Amino acid sequence: MIFLIPFILSGSSCLAQKKVKTILQNGKPISTDLFGVFFEDINYSADGGLYAELIQNRSFEYSPSDKNGWNPFTSWELVKDGYGIGTVSVETSLPVHAQNPHYVTLSVEKGGEGVGLRNSGYDGISIKAGGNYNFSVFARQVRGNSAPLEIKLVSKKGIVYSRAFIPELSGEWKKYTGTLTSDSTDAEALLMVVSKSQGVFNLDMISLFPSNTFHNRANGLRSDLAEAIANLKPKFMRFPGGCLVHGDGLTNLYQWKNTIGPIESRVVQPNIWGYQQSVGLGYFEYFQFCEDIGAKPLPVVAAGVSCQNSGGSWRIGGTGQRAIPLEDMNRYTQDVLDLIEYANGPVTSTWGAKRAESGHPESFHLEYIGIGNEDKQTPEFRERFSLIYEAVKKKYPKMKVIGTVGPSPDGKDFELGWKFAGELNVPLVDEHYYMNPGWFINNQNRYDLYKRTESKVYIGEYASKGNRWINAISEAAFMTSVERNGDVVGLASYAPLLAKEGHTQWNPDLIYFNNTGINLTLNYYVQQLFSVNQGDTYYDKIVTFQQSTNPTCLNDFTQAASCVKDSKTGDVIVKLVNAGNEKKTMDIDLSSFGIIKQNALCYLLTGKSDALNSFTNPQNIKPVKTSLKVSKMFTYETLPLSLTIIRIKAGR
Ligand code: AHR
Repeated sequence: MIFLIPFILSGSSCLAQKKVKTILQNGKPISTDLFGVFFEDINYSADGGLYAELIQNRSFEYSPSDKNGWNPFTSWELVKDGYGIGTVSVETSLPVHAQNPHYVTLSVEKGGEGVGLRNSGYDGISIKAGGNYNFSVFARQVRGNSAPLEIKLVSKKGIVYSRAFIPELSGEWKKYTGTLTSDSTDAEALLMVVSKSQGVFNLDMISLFPSNTFHNRANGLRSDLAEAIANLKPKFMRFPGGCLVHGDGLTNLYQWKNTIGPIESRVVQPNIWGYQQSVGLGYFEYFQFCEDIGAKPLPVVAAGVSCQNSGGSWRIGGTGQRAIPLEDMNRYTQDVLDLIEYANGPVTSTWGAKRAESGHPESFHLEYIGIGNEDKQTPEFRERFSLIYEAVKKKYPKMKVIGTVGPSPDGKDFELGWKFAGELNVPLVDEHYYMNPGWFINNQNRYDLYKRTESKVYIGEYASKGNRWINAISEAAFMTSVERNGDVVGLASYAPLLAKEGHTQWNPDLIYFNNTGINLTLNYYVQQLFSVNQGDTYYDKIVTFQQSTNPTCLNDFTQAASCVKDSKTGDVIVKLVNAGNEKKTMDIDLSSFGIIKQNALCYLLTGKSDALNSFTNPQNIKPVKTSLKVSKMFTYETLPLSLTIIRIKAGR
């Protein structure tokens, strides 16, 4: 089936295209941070996803405030094998840490083959034959003779894949660790912690990680997902949200200080997306991941107000925005300043010392910080944004602060947000849009019209409402216009990034995953091709379209092209998009680049408009890399519905 995009080319669009032609002949510098990623814990992206913890509800902190029906025993079961007798209860009187109040008391009257707890992970625990899994548990013996605890990986039917013992327990809380090596592969294994001896035991923070986390980090990330993100070569990573940051009401604002330090001391909190954030993937881990993948960190903090969709009004669009009382704003603003100190401050500073305690004395080189996320532009928001913004500017004048202009590409909050950013001279503003493919095709002139004297743009969230090739190719066409306007658009990130199969709350997403695999969408490949082929100088008038389906316009919007140079490699990179249903010929004139090497690299992504990559057919479409003979002036015939990137060695 061929999808037809309704192309609406208005008179003003044509005018806009004429203005494009005023771009410098000799290239203009564009942002070197253009293409990045936006990570939000939505769709089980963090817990059960990128964060490699395999045990769900490891700290018995689940509660109905996270999700209806959840409680401290969610995903846990009491087991009494071989006629064992015992009970389990949840207590709070003597926790491992005051900020992590719940733990269990296991009372074993008769051990049998083992009385204890069984955890089913996030839809099962996926293990591989020969794989090593690091477990840890906080435990103490309350009554009875000191007795061993047995830790086992088992199948649903009780087949034991691996077992280890903690020979004896102390009477005080103590962390015990070990490694389990599985002898089998099972996507739905379970973890058991049992005792065969009579006694009373306290248990908390029962944890299991694969040993091969990304970069082998302790408390680390799932390597295949982290690598998929790393392979995008993102220039920056925005985190931790999204709506998650300004949360479901004031008590649910993201509190970064609760997310650092030993994991047993972190404060879990409900996620606006309807589950719990263990915050095991906290600010330290975010910064570290950014560093590991060479992406600049871009944290976003709430602007002193909660999400306007708070209070269950998400679907009906009511305003649930609540503001931090002004008398508490000093404390809140200080938290934001402390975050910057945590990232960049010397080890002699209070928060720099905390970063060093976590094993990273060096700065994380924070350059960007977002304040607010598509907030309603109320007087309450503006007052609080100003307080935070002015404080950051005063203490950290070089920090590139990113403001917010609502959830849409236009409209009241957008207009008010831009006006407000202008009044305050905010360096960048964060635009969001989830639109159909036709919108992306038709709006390629959007940034040609932006004034170069105002705030720069961060396109923090965008997607064309689908994962079919027609969606991805429309994004590709739009991205050529983002490159062309890389002097006014500083950064751009597709959203959302990750979604777990069976827990997807928002479609489309860039990468889908389950416990055993991942599905890279066509949108992913477009993002990747643009990101790895980014340049720092934009050249106009390099590509001419031979056929125009709309002769009244200088550009046919089903054809798009850009040309950049990457000064690090000296490569000239030409991107050609044909979003139409017929072949189109394009002339490429590289004569102004001096010497051109004949052998160029060519990446091609093409397919039918309704084609998809899926778990069952993950490689349906993927980029094909070939070599191509080029010359100073050459003609290239683009396939229907194709993205072609030609990477040419040149000397100018
Ligand atoms: O990307 C999903 C959501 O879309 C983000 O949390 C929010 O900022 C936007 O509405």
